[in-house]
Amino acid sequence: MRWTNRRDQREVLALLDIEPGQRVLEVGYGPGALIRLLSERTPADHILGVDPSAEMRAAASRSNRAAVAAGRVDLRIGTAADTGLAERSVDVVVSVNSVAVWPDLDAGLRELHRVLKPGGTLLVAWHGGKGASRLARSLRLPEDRLARLNDALADVFTQVVHHRLSTLDAFTAVR
Ligand SMILES: C[S@@+](CC[C@H](N)C(=O)[O-])C[C@H]1O[C@@H](n2cnc3c(N)ncnc32)[C@H](O)[C@@H]1O
Repeated sequence: MRWTNRRDQREVLALLDIEPGQRVLEVGYGPGALIRLLSERTPADHILGVDPSAEMRAAASRSNRAAVAAGRVDLRIGTAADTGLAERSVDVVVSVNSVAVWPDLDAGLRELHRVLKPGGTLLVAWHGGKGASRLARSLRLPEDRLARLNDALADVFTQVVHHRLSTLDAFTAVR
């Protein structure tokens, strides 16, 4: 569950290219490793997270205690398809190793399009990429599922690009 590949962390943060003052949403934050990177290594103004698991919320809150107390990190219960956030309220949405377990991919992508501001960026990633670890190779999606993800993104977003990172297949798209 814990996301530990440092090269991928750097690659994902570089693709996100977060600017000062931006509001960032992570979907499926799990134990909160990326939430912590976003708060420690980017100039984001506000970092929101949604995850359906109360257990993950408790774990992520522990690993981001100071930022949660300061109000910079806001960890909520929610799902990709039902974030509970206002329309056009975030600049960047990121989701790592969660998209393949969403029960309704299209509903999730429509919701993330709804909450992004025009011109905002979405990044979704799943194990795979260049397959630099045994875990990435064992959990990678077959090409037809990657193509389905690409098509579902292109139905809703513009500028869809598939990036093969060290241990992740990542897609970026623009609202
Ligand atoms: C394998 S974990 C990945 C956690 C974290 N992103 C990471 O890479 O360490 C998948 C996460 O997706 C969450 N999840 C499951 N269904 C979801 C949904 N429909 N919408 C958003 N998140 C979901 C799970 O609760 C879990 O925290």
